[in-house]
Amino acid sequence: MTSIRINDINLGYTDVGAGPPVVLIHGYPFNRSLWTEQTDALRDKHRVVAPDLRGFGESDSSEGPTRMTRFAEDVAALMDALEIEQAVIGGLSMGGYVALAFARMVPARVKALVLADTRPQADTEEGKQTRFHQAEKAVSAGMAGLADAMLPKLLTPDTVSKRPELVKRIRDMMLTAKPEGAAMALLGMAERDDQTEFISSIRVPTLILVGREDAITPVADSEKMHSQIEGSRLVVIENAGHVSNLEQTEQFNDALLGFLSTV
Ligand code: MLT
Repeated sequence: MTSIRINDINLGYTDVGAGPPVVLIHGYPFNRSLWTEQTDALRDKHRVVAPDLRGFGESDSSEGPTRMTRFAEDVAALMDALEIEQAVIGGLSMGGYVALAFARMVPARVKALVLADTRPQADTEEGKQTRFHQAEKAVSAGMAGLADAMLPKLLTPDTVSKRPELVKRIRDMMLTAKPEGAAMALLGMAERDDQTEFISSIRVPTLILVGREDAITPVADSEKMHSQIEGSRLVVIENAGHVSNLEQTEQFNDALLGFLSTV
């Protein structure tokens, strides 16, 4: 395990490869192993850094709602410790919320952005209530029930029925989340800022990726981001749901590598 003490927690992370740095931020309730296939594909040409966000994977959790800005501060502190001034910042879903918070907080540290299966809007009132309920459930009953309820929304029906190994891998990854860490992230997501106005001010090269069948952050959200972020590139991943990087790794990696070769 590689870990580092930053912002009062031990944070697990991967740091491999050499070349222009790329930081990959996982979604909820995953961990940095979400990015194994992308890390392998990029490491010949890039230095790839992938943290376990606080409360996930090998990172400690902390008390109180984990706001997206707190996750972003952890990413910035990790970059400081690794002496990376500026990087391509990529995130999937909640990782995208963190990437946007990071871009807003420290824009000069962002060389380019990769926004995968994510959205800029804040939660609706109803969405917030669901988060509160799920946070209680995580703490009282653990991650298994939440993972099982989430799986059919994360993946296409085809993946669920035909790729049991992938389904198991994603489920197992969700079970590594610390219930209290997941709960604090849920409360943090409920409190997150709306970034819809902010994204119009983004001036760095931006790649937007989304699974055609993403049921959590649908294609329409990505199309809207694409229309608001000047010069952005949108790639819709066919036969994929919310975890498009694992469901269709080749399509995702082709788009990512193609984009990185231009920035
Ligand atoms: C994620 O994949 O990070 C979450 O589904 C995002 C969310 O619940 O808004």
